Amino acid sequence: MLEIGVLVSGRGSNLEAVLKSIERGSIKGARVAVVISNDPEARALAVARRHGVKAVALESRGDSREAYAAKLAKALTENGVAPGKGLVLLAGFMKILPGSFVDLYDGRMMNIHPSLLPAFPGVRAQQQALSHGVKVAGCTVHFVVAEVDAGPIILQKAVPVLEGDDEGALSARILRQEHKLYPLAVKLFAEGRLRTEGRVVRRKQ
Ligand code: GRF
Repeated sequence: MLEIGVLVSGRGSNLEAVLKSIERGSIKGARVAVVISNDPEARALAVARRHGVKAVALESRGDSREAYAAKLAKALTENGVAPGKGLVLLAGFMKILPGSFVDLYDGRMMNIHPSLLPAFPGVRAQQQALSHGVKVAGCTVHFVVAEVDAGPIILQKAVPVLEGDDEGALSARILRQEHKLYPLAVKLFAEGRLRTEGRVVRRKQ
């Protein structure tokens, strides 16, 4: 059984998409063992509880980045999401993780980002896309490396930018695709169908 830990800070809609995928049996041989948020008020914690998943608030309170990452690694490990064994999903997690933590979960930590990376890394990616005037936007699931939003790309999905789009409209169109893409990436990982060569992720049939 693949034990998954999900790190969140906000709404939790991607978390919920993964949970539903597991519940309906689309993702087999995996379960979400724990959901951890740096923000005790995050709606994602309520989403976890609603699905019967352990929800943990782990505030950073002035901790250094390293000290906070050590707390995270401890909480994950205690809940069965051990380095080299479990899978960590960043799902709207708004804290930057240090290299030491990234190394611990090397090749076993994913993130979802609402742009077609490497375009528009960082915050408000959808607004960045609109301001740039691109005609195609989208989302990316990638393995996490120390550099933000820069790791090997697992899956991408494009969506059109339509005349008259504002940040909300474009974000909603992208989010609908995120909810399909993240569960699919987890499913491929759980089935052992992802192989990384350098920065290229290959999908085994
Ligand atoms: C999503 O747009 C995701 O791509 C980005 O943060 C947002 C999280 O939304 N990393 P939610 O908390 O999953 O609803």
